[in-house]
Amino acid sequence: MYGWIVPPPREPTKSSEELAQERAAKVQELLLTGYLQSELIQQALLKVPREIFIPRLYQDYAYLEVPLPLPGERATISCPHSYPLFYEPLGLDRGHKFLEIGTGSGYGVAVAREVVGAEGLVVSIEIDPTTFEFAQRNLERAGYDDILLVNSDGGRGYPEKKSFDRIAITAACATVPPELIEQLSPRGRLIAPLQREHTQELVLFERGLGGLRSRFICEVLYVPLRGVCGS
Ligand SMILES: C[S@@+](CC[C@H](N)C(=O)[O-])C[C@H]1O[C@@H](n2cnc3c(N)ncnc32)[C@H](O)[C@@H]1O
Repeated sequence: MYGWIVPPPREPTKSSEELAQERAAKVQELLLTGYLQSELIQQALLKVPREIFIPRLYQDYAYLEVPLPLPGERATISCPHSYPLFYEPLGLDRGHKFLEIGTGSGYGVAVAREVVGAEGLVVSIEIDPTTFEFAQRNLERAGYDDILLVNSDGGRGYPEKKSFDRIAITAACATVPPELIEQLSPRGRLIAPLQREHTQELVLFERGLGGLRSRFICEVLYVPLRGVCGS
């Protein structure tokens, strides 16, 4: 699967206490490696039980740095470090209106919901109906009933709730879908993995007075964006 070695499926053996300890250790590791800086993102990662968002036979691996398979076509939950990797440069904060393209497991929006708080808004779009239902169930079990989930092509964004302060695209695209740029607020930021010839680059875009500025963050490896703007 795209260059990652996925551990073999197995019946879960770890207790919720063991997983909570692994979660706390992972947050410490992310702080030490510099991926994580914001107190809000730190608290969100400590609060959301990632194992709830993972298929049963992979739950023991919840805090390993590997993407794990999800129900649906080519869907994965991203590695734990991917969430601060996206949310720190975005500067995701209290009160933001946040749009995610590629709900996957639902874990990313649960973390975002904790960060933006009740005064913010979280919308997430998933193209695959099987993955969408999986995310819906996970978020329900985890107690998140105030995230707007949409089963459609995220390449068109969600004009009904524009403009968004922050947008994260969690699948690799050749270029950022133009409708997403249109739905970005005046000082908004968008982050996306962009497909280059042989690699993918995570790029941050910021809308300012002079237009859209971009900044390379690092190389990444994501499943391809599907739909109208897919490759
Ligand atoms: C790497 S996974 C997302 C991981 C997710 N953010 C999480 O926290 O589990 C990428 C997801 O993007 C979805 N996807 C691909 N193309 C899409 C599109 N055009 N619109 C919405 N979702 C799309 C895939 O089905 C997949 O579930």
